[in-house]
Amino acid sequence: MTSIATQLLGWVDDRFPLSKLWREHLSEYYAPKNFNFWYFFGSLALLVLVIQLLTGIFLTMNYKPDAQLAFGSVEYIMRDVNWGWLIRYMHSTGASAFFVVVYMHMFRGLLYGSYKKPRELVWIFGMLIFLCLMAEAFFGYLLPWGQMSYWGAQVIISLFGAVPFVGPELALWIRGDYVVADATLNRFFAFHVIAVPLVLVGLIAAHIIALHEVGSNNPDGVEIKKLKDPNTHIPLDGIPFHPYYTVKDIVGVVVFLMLFVAVVFFTPEMGGLFLEHPNFEAANPLKTPPHIAPVWYFTPYYAILRAVPSIAGSAFPGVVAMGVSVMAFFFLPWLDRNPVKSIRYRGLCYKVALGLFVVAFLVLGYLGMQAPSPLRTLTAQICTIIYFAFFALMPIYTKMEKNKPVPERVTH
Ligand code: HEM
Repeated sequence: MTSIATQLLGWVDDRFPLSKLWREHLSEYYAPKNFNFWYFFGSLALLVLVIQLLTGIFLTMNYKPDAQLAFGSVEYIMRDVNWGWLIRYMHSTGASAFFVVVYMHMFRGLLYGSYKKPRELVWIFGMLIFLCLMAEAFFGYLLPWGQMSYWGAQVIISLFGAVPFVGPELALWIRGDYVVADATLNRFFAFHVIAVPLVLVGLIAAHIIALHEVGSNNPDGVEIKKLKDPNTHIPLDGIPFHPYYTVKDIVGVVVFLMLFVAVVFFTPEMGGLFLEHPNFEAANPLKTPPHIAPVWYFTPYYAILRAVPSIAGSAFPGVVAMGVSVMAFFFLPWLDRNPVKSIRYRGLCYKVALGLFVVAFLVLGYLGMQAPSPLRTLTAQICTIIYFAFFALMPIYTKMEKNKPVPERVTH
């Protein structure tokens, strides 16, 4: 048997670099030996991607992208399709899980300066993935054709109407009708099930190829490639990804799946956070819900949108602020002037700035879910200022920092 397997592998290897790929990306990919908790989230993001693709395929088999049938087809999946409820709850919980995992993954980048040279492109591909993920979630949310699906899409598409000169035509072009309607649902379905996932998968491949070209960063921010064994040329602080990290990642996968199934089986709506209550009512273009709010992962940016005052009745300044609040992350590799990567060896400035930023982000996330009031708007405005100050003042405070000495080798 073994010799047949070896012969078969040899046959494949003569025609396709299977063993070479295995060695370069797994068994001889040397990763720093000090990965911690924060390094679980890349592989978990891959896992959630697979969950979303698989459950998405089965949902598509029973879903109808038609304004007359969409809501009913989702109810049909929930009640009549064998295991349909499980597939749908896995997909809806997966959407929120994706953002939890990706936010943790990005936060790791902020903690350990993983966006800095030579990983700028890893970061940029990551940000493009993040934009795609936001688009994917936005398009997907219209598909159940519930009240929040409908009115959420209406609000967000109307924002494009605030663009000077071309706004109204732009919004009309995106909707394909004067209000969100069947044409909108059809194109959102096309984007959600094929266009965006294709781009997403391509970007993830580019993200990992770029990462494996430069090698992983680590909690000490030490470049392990600088210190290699003179004979083997293997980094002294590196260990093969397989079997060491494949096994370690399985631990993360098991813990993640325990939490994931707990949500799927016991609280799939998450108190209205993962599946919003108004979405259990079919879309009604004649009835606006009293309070329209996006799903939790968009609420920080939504709070920024609402915090910025309109000028002459135009919401354009808020729209710009919302756009900039997401795009600002792209520029981190150039805004951060401190050569030290890991927060462990950076001065107080960055620690305080990052702490304030996280608090502002969470408060904005909370405020974005609530109906506005004067006090809430003021709080959102203060948090918006902190949010933008984190980026805008970064070139200044990262230059002033007094760093601690960075070790030569990774620590444990
Ligand atoms: C579907 C989404 C994503 C997937 C599947 C994914 C996958 C991965 C994987 C497997 C790794 C290597 C393992 C690890 O370091 O945890 C990684 C590293 C990295 N990712 Fe992502 N990623 C995603 C989104 C993002 C986003 C949105 C960003 C940032 C904007 C990002 C930035 C990074 C960086 C900077 C690294 C290198 C970290 C280091 O070496 O310290 N990724 N990613």
